[in-house]
Amino acid sequence: MDTSTIRFLLNGEPVEVSGVAPTTSLLTWLRTQRNLTGTKEGCGEGDCGACTVVVGELAANDEALRLSSVNACIQFVPALDGKAVFTVEYLRQQAGGELHPVQQSMVTCHGSQCGFCTPGFVMSLWNLYNDCTASNSRPGDLRIRSELTGNLCRCTGYRPIVEAGQQMFDLPELTLDRDGLRDQLRALRRDDTLDYAHANAHFIAPRRLEALAELRSRHPDATLLAGCTDIGLWVNKQFREVGDLIYIGQVAELREIRQDGKILRIGAGVTLTDAFSALTQTYPELGELWERFASPPVRNAGTLGGNIANGSPIGDSMPALIALGTRVVLHSVRGTRSMPLEALYLDYMKKDLAADEIVEALEVPLNIPTQCFRTYKLSKRFDSDISAVCAAFSIRLSDGVISMPRIAFGGMAATPKRASRTEAAIDGRRWDEATLALALAALDADYAPLSDMRASAAYRRRTAANLLRRFYLETRPEGALAPEQTRVFAAFDTLTTTP
Ligand SMILES: Cc1cc2nc3c(=O)[nH]c(=O)nc-3n(C[C@H](O)[C@H](O)[C@H](O)COP(=O)(O)OP(=O)(O)OC[C@H]3O[C@@H](n4cnc5c(N)ncnc54)[C@H](O)[C@@H]3O)c2cc1C
Ligand code: FES
Ligand code: FES
Repeated sequence: MDTSTIRFLLNGEPVEVSGVAPTTSLLTWLRTQRNLTGTKEGCGEGDCGACTVVVGELAANDEALRLSSVNACIQFVPALDGKAVFTVEYLRQQAGGELHPVQQSMVTCHGSQCGFCTPGFVMSLWNLYNDCTASNSRPGDLRIRSELTGNLCRCTGYRPIVEAGQQMFDLPELTLDRDGLRDQLRALRRDDTLDYAHANAHFIAPRRLEALAELRSRHPDATLLAGCTDIGLWVNKQFREVGDLIYIGQVAELREIRQDGKILRIGAGVTLTDAFSALTQTYPELGELWERFASPPVRNAGTLGGNIANGSPIGDSMPALIALGTRVVLHSVRGTRSMPLEALYLDYMKKDLAADEIVEALEVPLNIPTQCFRTYKLSKRFDSDISAVCAAFSIRLSDGVISMPRIAFGGMAATPKRASRTEAAIDGRRWDEATLALALAALDADYAPLSDMRASAAYRRRTAANLLRRFYLETRPEGALAPEQTRVFAAFDTLTTTP
């Protein structure tokens, strides 16, 4: 197969693309090269959902078909090689020139006014519609709201749109030909490395880990690209030149999740959606944090490895993973090494990662006996917002006595960081008010947070202490409070959800 041409399915038809810069966004390409202007540009940074499209692909090691909503503004065109892209124009085609049930219900429920956001909402709903019709299920309001958290509307208001998300299932069903799509994708699959070049900039997509390591050692200056939810913003918002790109999204070994005894091993290229889904099976305490991490389109594209490797001090996955005792596995042509995740972070955006190394996997311990684990995110908005403070606490509690405490915070230092003084202050003590007082004093010495646009240093100190107190109230041996007694959003849930 020609490795210099990008090949994918666009609204069911094969297309071949060349002559575009490797950092051309799918959104720009659709609108300027294909005249598919139904897909809109709002923010250009994954925040508004006006550009939502649906991407189909086959899983790395089996033939399972995956359809997911993504933001076209932060997807580079070559990353679509071997995949299927559906835009809002496809729906009418699928419905034989009529309105698709998703579109019809938006009309009937008055789900649109100026209409700028509407194609994005329609595509998020279409993705939900396909998922539910394939599994013969019907979503509740909470699921519909959750699927729409990446879509903003300035004029209609969300109630009619959520109603449309219900009513679309009352109309005659229109199913997607998943078997046909799977066959088309199989025919597109390549065995070799894609090496796409334009104007001296390369986009290289290997398929095996050893090929990736080899490429990395030969091109240490190239940018490793995974889900593009950070890098897309470097290009769109900071106008950074990212040079040659090595894409890890097709490397089979990096897309695996497997359980080795008491360790859950998550490949660095696994999407946030899949990683969170695997982790919450063992740690349901992570549910709210993951739900509030970005939005479904960002979680469907972004990877756990990308969040770890980017290493932002306000990244949301690190405090929880550090508290759980996660190890990070690094790989290069020189071999493999692993370390506790917290050891990866040396200083602000500085990591113990050599120029020829990649993050290969995360190894998360499972089923820790007598463990009490909680994680909390504080941000200005409930959904799709970056943390001001993110906290994770894990202790083992036996006969009321603490052992093996692991506490980590984001937003409190230049890196995601363990609260080592606090841990030392409580280790081996009874979990009572006296120990809490010791912990609070130590916590104050553990961190010297900064003031920035998200929060002042004083706010961060105060809320970090309050989160520690909340952890105590929820886990103390006597009179522990139930989640609905401490969780401020609990009242909101009952007000806004129907069963
Ligand atoms: C709208 C929006 C909302 C967001 N909300 C949140 C949020 O709530 N919480 C949060 O923590 N983050 C959030 N993010 C940030 C982002 O989604 C995450 O950091 C994501 O996990 C990055 O993964 P990616 O695969 O997209 O990485 P990319 O953008 O592809 O890469 C990010 C960095 O990691 C490097 N990299 C990627 N994979 C590897 C690897 N295997 N080995 C070595 N280096 C690698 C890249 O070279 C790059 O430096 C948000 C982003 C957007 C656009
Ligand atoms: S244009 Fe706003 S999410 Fe893409
Ligand atoms: S209908 Fe105008 S922004 Fe949603």
